[in-house]
Amino acid sequence: MTDLLLLPGDGIGPEVTAQVRRVAERLAGELKVEERLFGGASYDKHGTPLNDETLAEATAAKAVLMGAVGGPKWADAPRQLRPEAGLLNLRAGMEVFANLRPALCFGPLADASTLRREVVEGLDIMIVRELTGGVYFGHPRGIETLADGSKRGIDTQVYTTGEIERVARVAFELARGRRNKVTSAEKSNVMETGLLWREVVTALHAREFPDVTLEHMLADNCAMQLVKNPRQFDVIVTDNLFGDILSDEAAMLTGSLGMLPSAAIGAPGKPGLYEPIHGSAPDIAGQGVANPLAAILSFEMALRWSLGRADLADKLFAAVGRALEAGARTRDLGGTLSTAQMADAVIEAL
Ligand code: IPM
Ligand code: MG
Repeated sequence: MTDLLLLPGDGIGPEVTAQVRRVAERLAGELKVEERLFGGASYDKHGTPLNDETLAEATAAKAVLMGAVGGPKWADAPRQLRPEAGLLNLRAGMEVFANLRPALCFGPLADASTLRREVVEGLDIMIVRELTGGVYFGHPRGIETLADGSKRGIDTQVYTTGEIERVARVAFELARGRRNKVTSAEKSNVMETGLLWREVVTALHAREFPDVTLEHMLADNCAMQLVKNPRQFDVIVTDNLFGDILSDEAAMLTGSLGMLPSAAIGAPGKPGLYEPIHGSAPDIAGQGVANPLAAILSFEMALRWSLGRADLADKLFAAVGRALEAGARTRDLGGTLSTAQMADAVIEAL
């Protein structure tokens, strides 16, 4: 049985996942690691960004680690065969409905943020993004031509009680192990799904998590509060689209998108999907300068959440911290280290 399935994907994906492989060999050589084409790389070879075999392997592995997908090369591929569609199908196929996106500011990097040190120092937010529903998957969708020849584009935002409850439950449970506070973000002032979201979260809180502090916040205000006073947040739970946007914003508070990992989890016992949130970065792909820490920290989350090795996760997390303290910096952090040299620094700290 595969412990860790690597899906390097496109752009800087293969560069950063190669470093995960090195770290995994050093830290946990007993893990059975496999690798498959995914995204544009798979489309080029197999005519589809995610073939059935790869999806079957992903659901049979203990954990899946994806590098990144997409790039200008596939901009004209049919929409359902774009690399991004492969990622959405992978998330849906693995039923990983809760996406954990930590925004954590490592002390030595507090000056790398565009915000002042005193605003971001010690920042530790966990965004829980709903990942397999909402406007990303809702129907009807499409672009249709109207009688007068003009066009109409349609997306559908849709959520059920069950979908909201299961992701909110993950958020409340996480909060209990942290600072015990959940902020639920939606647009209940404008959207029906937002209203339902607020009702369902409120009811679940009263029923199962009265000990956790719950606060509701409109998503636009949440975006503003994130740059104004980010340390007021502990766990933020929100829908797929707001989570996509708010997590990029939160990531940037920490200094670099190159630092941020994510974990997507589903039902207990099912494999998790781990992704650095930085994307394929076609502008720097192939140059060996990408920061591998987001991918390495995604492996750290895989050890913790899917591979039952919290002990090794702690070790790896501490090693990343020591490497940064010792001054290891890739270009995005204002340094000169290559992708491989940054991984060397982590391996040395291990
Ligand atoms: C992310 C990305 C993806 C998303 C894209 C690549 C489909 O932006 O993981 O945040 O929108 O979910
Ligand atoms: Mg995104």
